[in-house]
Amino acid sequence: MTATDSFLRNRQPQASADSPARPLVALHDVHLTFGDNTVLKGIDVEVRRGEAVTIIGPSGSGKSTILRCITGLLRPQQGQIRVGDTAVETLRTEDELIALRKRVGFVFQQYNLFPHLTVLENLVIAPTRVIGRSRREAEQEARALLGKVRLADKAHAYPGELSGGQQQRVAIARALAMRPELILFDEVTSALDPETVGEVLTVIRELVEDGMTCVLVTHEMRFAAEISDHIYFTEAGRIVEHGPPEQIFGNPSHERTRAFLRRALGAIPRLPAEFNAAFAPAPAPTEG
Ligand SMILES: Nc1ncnc2c1ncn2[C@@H]1O[C@H](COP(=O)(O)OP(=O)(O)OP(=O)(O)O)[C@@H](O)[C@H]1O
Ligand SMILES: [Mg+2]
Repeated sequence: MTATDSFLRNRQPQASADSPARPLVALHDVHLTFGDNTVLKGIDVEVRRGEAVTIIGPSGSGKSTILRCITGLLRPQQGQIRVGDTAVETLRTEDELIALRKRVGFVFQQYNLFPHLTVLENLVIAPTRVIGRSRREAEQEARALLGKVRLADKAHAYPGELSGGQQQRVAIARALAMRPELILFDEVTSALDPETVGEVLTVIRELVEDGMTCVLVTHEMRFAAEISDHIYFTEAGRIVEHGPPEQIFGNPSHERTRAFLRRALGAIPRLPAEFNAAFAPAPAPTEG
């Protein structure tokens, strides 16, 4: 087995008992237009409970737009979006949308912590104010979550006193404090210094291993290959192809996917050499 195979196969397969069940998230034939710019042109995506699903694709291809549709932040002109039993595209009132957002955590590139609140208060505020959890319970859970993201010692620090990677881990803990059914991650490491990317990816990897349902948009291809159950490749508002990481990274069926990966992987020199070689333009360059 090559190094590539071993990191692709590292993921344990999900327990099969649940697999025929209905997906937790399902987008069907979703079309979305801004003015005269059609951004989504018939998107179908399914995410089962406990799965990690990653969306990859070029800038402007619609990845963030797909995530924003799942949270009800954007309403498509056509198509269906289900989260559990909720038909997201039919939600109208602010109360209905708030109810959905309690169930769907969202972590962005910009962590947007409350700068005037300590780390602990950032985690406690929504559970106590939005879902009426007792202060005691919310604080106890917040401390446990800070331990999980390895920031137990920062409970009383202010966000401005933390590194970018630490703030992003607080943002993940804050999303978890609402006990969401799933979490969406939109390029959460893109704004970080390279040396802090790993600590954030480790936290996400552990969430996936714990069985949290995750939908990720990331440019970290090796990470995506390692943790995802399923990969969707988007281009110009369409899903070009999707499949398990072994297929998308190891044997993509579309030349567009192959060309994208060649460019994307070219930017990540720490990938195993044989992984890069699989996508290098023929003849594969050899390192001297
Ligand atoms: N609020 C908006 N109003 C108008 N156009 C928008 C809006 N949000 C996104 N778009 C357009 O929709 C298209 C898809 O944007 P989106 O942010 O989903 O791309 P992306 O795949 O996430 O790209 P990136 O990798 O750069 O984050 C782009 O052409 C973008 O300009
Ligand atoms: Mg985006």
